[in-house]
Amino acid sequence: MVAGPIHMAYILAALLFIMALAGLSKQETAKYGCLSGMVGMAIALVATFVQVESGSGFLLIIVAMVIGGAIGIFVARRVAMTQMPEMIACLHSFVGLAAVLVGYNSFLELGPTVQDTITVSIGDSPATIVAMLDEANKANAAALAAVGTSMSAAELNTHLVEIFLGIFIGAVTFTGSIVAYGKLNGTYKLRVFKSAPLMIPGGHLLNLAALIVSFFLLIWFMAAANPPLFPLVVMTLIAFAFGVHLVAAIGGADMPVVISMLNSYSGWAAAASGFMLSNDLLIVTGALVGSSGAILSYIMCKAMNRSFMSVIMGGFGNEGAATDADEEMGEYHEMKTADVAELLKNSSSVIIAPGYGMAVSQAQNAVAQLTEKLQARGCQVRFAIHPVAGRLPGHMNVLLAEAKVPYDIVFEMDEINDDFENTDTVLVIGANDTVNPAALENPNSPIAGMPVLEVWKARNVVVFKRSMNAGYAGVQNPLFFKDNTYMCFGDAKKSVEEIVSGI
Ligand code: TAP
Repeated sequence: MVAGPIHMAYILAALLFIMALAGLSKQETAKYGCLSGMVGMAIALVATFVQVESGSGFLLIIVAMVIGGAIGIFVARRVAMTQMPEMIACLHSFVGLAAVLVGYNSFLELGPTVQDTITVSIGDSPATIVAMLDEANKANAAALAAVGTSMSAAELNTHLVEIFLGIFIGAVTFTGSIVAYGKLNGTYKLRVFKSAPLMIPGGHLLNLAALIVSFFLLIWFMAAANPPLFPLVVMTLIAFAFGVHLVAAIGGADMPVVISMLNSYSGWAAAASGFMLSNDLLIVTGALVGSSGAILSYIMCKAMNRSFMSVIMGGFGNEGAATDADEEMGEYHEMKTADVAELLKNSSSVIIAPGYGMAVSQAQNAVAQLTEKLQARGCQVRFAIHPVAGRLPGHMNVLLAEAKVPYDIVFEMDEINDDFENTDTVLVIGANDTVNPAALENPNSPIAGMPVLEVWKARNVVVFKRSMNAGYAGVQNPLFFKDNTYMCFGDAKKSVEEIVSGI
């Protein structure tokens, strides 16, 4: 196929990706956003496909797509909604690994590329240096032509930087995403996969040293007459370790920022692959993912009152935070579901604050039924959504939309936080860190400074959970011990269903 239609297809696909991002920004248009993304990706695949000229390459791509597609469908069908964040982290790691492999492939494809170098002394005038560069460029062009490379010396240097940076970003994304996967999964025994931050003494200096050494390896890689493999391999190993350390140092509560940050890195890794493969669509798509991920990271940081730099530098400045899940905080009051039903019958305003536990117990449909029953009794029911409730941006909104809860009674934290004090009853359904007053009261807490839903200001608070265990950040919650808080123990879905039948 000629280049014109392919470029048209690329532009169309890029436009559809932009429409997908715009659509995904609102619940009402999210479905169309997904559809735009899918159509864009189909166009991109076809356009890439028709460019493959040789028969064997065509066959290889089809075989790879069938195997990859089959694994993808098999895994996606088995993944529960609560495991989606882990799956996304896993997919980010594939993008990182792909960038590393594309980088090495691009390097090996270069073959011998003898380059002339220049040595400049302090006494040399600018004119002399320009003349020397000119000579070196001519020699390089001749050398490149001799080994059959059509690139100019300047193009070759740019390509080498692309390879080096692409492999670096890809390697950090690969191992960082694997650690994020382990932290989100929460079942692995290895220390790096624990939710609590792994702070190695002098860890930030190690990060700095890794960056400095990588920079010198880049100079070595670029300056040698024949770009050597050795500095590339050493840099790759350093970048692998850097990715592990960067994410391991981040505490559970800050994981939302890490996920969006790794999303951004995976975009830049894809863009780097696009440069290496000279594929414009991959560059555009990678840049879209990279920049939207960066914007999301910034939004997450603002929502959690975290410094963007502190999080991306591996928890820089968070060393004082202490985790204590078993801290003794006094006595708590328990309430049975029948009594909760009575309490709700006597409430004229109710706010429901859902969290990760609602996703685990799949209580959203029962919660929607409870909402309808209360509304039928003339009670005002609203939902309060914390920006990092659950394990994915928008996790709670997706669950509530699935249960057909009307959008107009679902409010963001900033919109509803002032209303708790005028509310009769708050139902905290499987939320913990996002309703923890320690974030505002205890400056040494790992979640210190994070804005939370101030549910304790309501007249009554009922917390649905199975035990007194801590939330994802691993800190005990003083809310559970307040005089107006009642603990309703058990699986959230079962408890809410009992309440629905009791009203
Ligand atoms: P969490 O702090 O994770 O607490 C969830 C609570 O749900 C737990 O205390 C658990 O207590 C309870 N639970 C679990 N299964 C349950 C069930 N079947 N029935 C009833 N309760 C159940 O929840 P959150 O308030 O939503 O906070 C989210 C946390 O995850 C934050 O720290 C956030 O930073 C972090 N995080 C968020 C994201 C994004 S992007 N949203 C990504 C990664 C991490 P029991 O075990 O006692 O039942």
